[in-house]
Order: sequence, then C-alpha cells, then structure tokens
Amino acid sequence: MKTNYHIKKEDFVVILTGAGISAESGIKTFRDSDGLWENHPVEKVATPEGFRADPKLVWQFYKERYNQLSEVEPNPGHYALAELEDYLQGNFSLITQNVDDLHRRAGSKKILEMHGQLNSCFCTRCKKHYSVKDIDLNIDVPSCIACGADLRPDIVWFGEMPYFMDEIDEALRKATYFMTIGTSGQVYPAAQFLLFARSYGVKTLGVNLTEPENRSFIEEFHLGKSGEVLPKLVKLFIN
Ligand code: OAD
Repeated sequence: MKTNYHIKKEDFVVILTGAGISAESGIKTFRDSDGLWENHPVEKVATPEGFRADPKLVWQFYKERYNQLSEVEPNPGHYALAELEDYLQGNFSLITQNVDDLHRRAGSKKILEMHGQLNSCFCTRCKKHYSVKDIDLNIDVPSCIACGADLRPDIVWFGEMPYFMDEIDEALRKATYFMTIGTSGQVYPAAQFLLFARSYGVKTLGVNLTEPENRSFIEEFHLGKSGEVLPKLVKLFIN
C-alpha cells in the first residue's frame, strides 16, 4: 500500500464514516446485497410518516438494532481512527452517519453523530431526551414520563435535518485532509461533503469496498475493507 500523504500534527483531519466501517464488526450495511433496506422498506422504518403510521413496527426495527450493540465490538478500522485522533490531539473531527456506538467504544472522542444514535430517544411532544437503557423495551411504543406522549428513536429520518451541520461546515473549512470511509455516497447532505471539501481546497481521500457514487471527488482512493486498509494507512500517515 502507498499514500502520497504524510500527516503532520499541525494538519487538521476530518473523517466521514458510513455503515461500511462497522460491517466487519457484524453490523449490516443499508444498500449492499442483503443490506438492511432490502428487508425493511425505508419509507416504513426511516421516515416520520412511517412512524406516524406504525410506531410499533418502527420501534421494533430500532430495538433489534439497539439490542445488537451488546453483541458486537469495534474492529481495527475504528481503532485506527482513534489512533489518528490521538496523534492529532485536537486537530481532528470525526463525522459519522452511523448510529451505533462503535467509534466511541474504540476510543474516538470528537464525534459528530449526524444521523443520531441508537442509545437515545426523545418525546414526540415535549422533546425530552432519554437514554434507551432507562426505557422499558418490552413496551411496544414507550411513552414519556413527563407528558405521556410517544417516544421515538433519536434517529434522523429521511426528510429530517441532520444534526451538527454548522459544526461540520466549520470543520471542513479548517481541514487540510478530508477522508470518506465505508459510505456509498448516495445519501445527502453527507454525500456532498467531498464537494465542499474540494471547493475549500482540502485534500480528499477515500477508503471503500466498492467505488462510491461520488468517487470523482476523491483524489486518493483505497479500494478494500476499512478494517484491513485503515490500520496500515494510518501508520503510513503518521510515521
Ligand atoms: P450504505 O449501505 O449505503 O453503503 C455502505 C458502503 O460501505 C458501500 O459503498 C459498501 O461498498 C461499503 N462497505 C461495505 N463493507 C465495507 C468494508 N468492510 N470496508 C469498507 N467499505 C465497506 O451505507 P451508508 O453510506 O452509511 O441513514 O448509508 C448512508 C445512510 O443511509 C445511513 O446513515 C442511513 C441510510 O439510510 C439513516 O438511517 C438516517
């Protein structure tokens, strides 16, 4: 493996991860064959309209995914990014579209979870937030102890605004490198960050098992599994 880049401590690195980085931990991606969207129609489980129509079905989908978190572990790809963050001290920002907690468990600290997280839910009326570990998941549709309305998973669904958009733009403007990992480049606005990075003069890199849709905006692309590529790449970057 080769890279054109040596990352210095003064550089600022921004990473975007998607489902691919957690695939080797045993979590299904969305759009690969046998991906999550193959057996669960997106409009039913990942839209506000779907939740209004059948909140029990939506909770069931996210409860299964929440319960899976206790059965999976971070993989070498997650750990390599934590190592890169350690090396760069504060000059680093990790944006993830993933709602699992594997980056955090691998030791990453500055994480912008732009699509929410499975560990959290909130009230559809008063917006009070709860940790899912404090919720009785035997109830079909848990309700808010403050106001009695339905709780919903703290996941950004299609048609909703992702979290941390201002922080993400600020990070991209500061960046010297932007690297996209394990994401198909099909979901906006995340798919557009490469374009923003290029327009800000940031060097762009990518690691993916297949060529993502926005491949043309990636200057240095590494084809392969992130759990195999990233540990080697991070070593080359920082040594
Ligand atoms: P996708 O399922 O669309 O894409 C996963 C990508 O990871 C594909 O390009 C795979 O080739 C690649 N991949 C698979 N295994 C890999 C591995 N071991 N190493 C590296 N790459 C691998 O998932 P995302 O792009 O993350 O949103 O999807 C984006 C958003 O769409 C998700 O956050 C989710 C979904 O709808 C919400 O649920 C809100």
